[in-house]
Amino acid sequence: MHPPRIVVLTGAGISAESGLPTFRDADGLWEGHDPMTVATPEAYDDDPALVHRFYDERRAALARVRPNAAHRALARLEDALGDRLHLVTQNVDDLHERGGSRRVHHMHGRLRAAWCTACDERTAWDGPLGHRPPCPSCDVPALRPDVVWFGEVPHGMDEIEEALWECDLFVSIGTSGLVYPAAAFVHYAAGNGKETLELNLHASEASVDVGQSRRGPATDLVPA
Ligand code: APR
Repeated sequence: MHPPRIVVLTGAGISAESGLPTFRDADGLWEGHDPMTVATPEAYDDDPALVHRFYDERRAALARVRPNAAHRALARLEDALGDRLHLVTQNVDDLHERGGSRRVHHMHGRLRAAWCTACDERTAWDGPLGHRPPCPSCDVPALRPDVVWFGEVPHGMDEIEEALWECDLFVSIGTSGLVYPAAAFVHYAAGNGKETLELNLHASEASVDVGQSRRGPATDLVPA
C-alpha cells in the first residue's frame, strides 16, 4: 500500500508559539487595526509609507524568532512522504523553511521578498523597503512587499486544487478559516470524499465541516 497523499494548510496559529502574533486572536495584528488600511492595494496607493512601515516591522520581527516543534514536525513529515505531502501556508513568514521544509507553497506570498511593480521581478529581501530602495534589476524605486493583499489573487491556486483533488487527507493547522479562498479548501476536500482533520487551539470556522478536530497548541498536536 502507498503512503497517503496529504495536503496541509497552515495559518498564523502554527507560528504563534514562535512569538509571531496571529491576526484575529486577542493581541492579534488586526486587533484595533483595520486590515484594509495596510493590507490592500488601495491602502498602498493611498499611504505607501504606512504600509511599508507595517511590513518593515514585521520583517524585522521575523529575524528575532525561530521555528518551533510544529514547523519541525512538518519537515519530518516531508522527509517521510516526499512529494506526497503538499504543504500550503497562508503565512508570509519563513519558519517552515527554517524548520527544515524544502517545498513550501506560500499562497499569500513571502515577507522576505520584494516585488518590483515597474519590471515585475521578485527579489529576496531582508531589510526595510520604506526608504524606497532601487530595484536590483531595473533600478526603479518601485519595490513593494511580495505579499498577497485582500483583493489580490493567491499564488498557485490551480496547483492547490489539483493537490486537494489527489490527496487522501486534508489537514488544517492554526487557521481561523475566515479568509477565502483558503477557507474553502476543507469544503472542497470533504466534498470530494477526502478525510479532513483540523488542529487548532480553539474551535474555528472550519470546525463544523471537518471530519476530525483536535484542540490544543500546535507544538503539541502537530508532532503527535
Ligand atoms: N496552536 C494552534 N492554533 C493556534 C495557536 C496555537 N498555539 N494560536 C492560535 N491558534 C489559532 C487560533 O485559534 C485561530 O484559529 O490560529 C488561528 C489564527 O487565525 P488568524 O489570526 O485569523 O490567522 P489566519 O487564519 O492565518 O489568517 C488568514 O488572513 O489576514 C489574513 O493574509 C492574512 O494569511 C492571513 C489570513
